[in-house]
Amino acid sequence: MSRTFVMVKPDGVERGLIGEIVARFECKGFKIKEAKLMQIERSLAETHYGEHKERPFFGDLVDFITSGPVFAMVLEGKDAVKNARSLIGKTNPADAEPGTIRGDLAMDVSSNIIHGSDSDESAEREIKLFFQ
Ligand code: PPS
Repeated sequence: MSRTFVMVKPDGVERGLIGEIVARFECKGFKIKEAKLMQIERSLAETHYGEHKERPFFGDLVDFITSGPVFAMVLEGKDAVKNARSLIGKTNPADAEPGTIRGDLAMDVSSNIIHGSDSDESAEREIKLFFQ
């Protein structure tokens, strides 16, 4: 068993998709170890997305993730990072397969409703940042 960090982004919360998204992880077999609705401070957003700070969309990404509450979770399961990312689907919803969260519920890369850690190292770093 391992852990991953997943968060429903402000667009997913605003659209009332927390229940739908949590259900998909539970149906897959994940256990929710921690969860909270929270407003992300700008400094936390800049740290969380620090590896992308040179990318042209960095400012928009920070504006977006701080634009409203997010629903942050720690999930536990077998190969948690890999299995969660499979459920989430490709970063750009236009490329995400039907049956995945982004494939079924989103259309635009700049509002792709959910974040999932991309490695075990990122997961542990992000869990510490959000659930100290
Ligand atoms: S990934 O999943 O880390 O491999 O994706 P990547 O393409 O490197 O994107 C990193 C995060 O930036 C978000 N993103 C964008 N936001 C706004 N506008 C544009 N054009 C854009 N392209 C990518 C993407 O959703 C990733 O955020 P998270 O929260 O990890 O999904």
